[in-house]
Amino acid sequence: MTADLSLIRSSFAVVQPHGTEVTAYFYDHLFAHNPGVRPLFAPHIDEQRDRLWAALGALVANLENADTLIGMLQNLGRRHVGYGALPEYYPAVGSSLIATLAHFAGDAWTPEIEKAWVEIYGVISSTMIAAGETAGETAGA
Ligand code: HEM
Repeated sequence: MTADLSLIRSSFAVVQPHGTEVTAYFYDHLFAHNPGVRPLFAPHIDEQRDRLWAALGALVANLENADTLIGMLQNLGRRHVGYGALPEYYPAVGSSLIATLAHFAGDAWTPEIEKAWVEIYGVISSTMIAAGETAGETAGA
């Protein structure tokens, strides 16, 4: 993995204390720029907001545990097939995620941090998408 993991961890730590404000901003950003994905989500997504953020926290906490990380991403990717999360939606979610992190990190955000997040999101999304593509062969996993 080429992403600078210390930058991922430190920038996430700056944003994390903002709590549910962060996920509210993320979904507002995502739906404003990609209204087509809104129907995939339940009308009331408060609970979902917390789950996505908890999952990101768990991923960041396991950046150095490649086996755990990949296992988590594969399971997440397989479940996302059922949510209608098509591969072409992943870049939109990545853009909104990075815009959100940049917004809450404020002055602490740098081009190096952005590069690290673009790289890590590339790994996250390609692992999820690949697992989703084989989901039919591993049904129930
Ligand atoms: C960093 C990448 C992502 C992470 C960490 C993530 C995380 C999560 C988590 C934790 C859940 C809760 C259910 C579960 O654990 O299976 C969830 C649900 C969901 N995710 Fe994601 N997700 C990601 C990317 C995406 C993408 C690219 C889409 C495409 C639009 C998407 C659409 C959804 C939908 C539609 C649900 C169900 C929501 C509902 O029931 O209202 N996610 N996601």
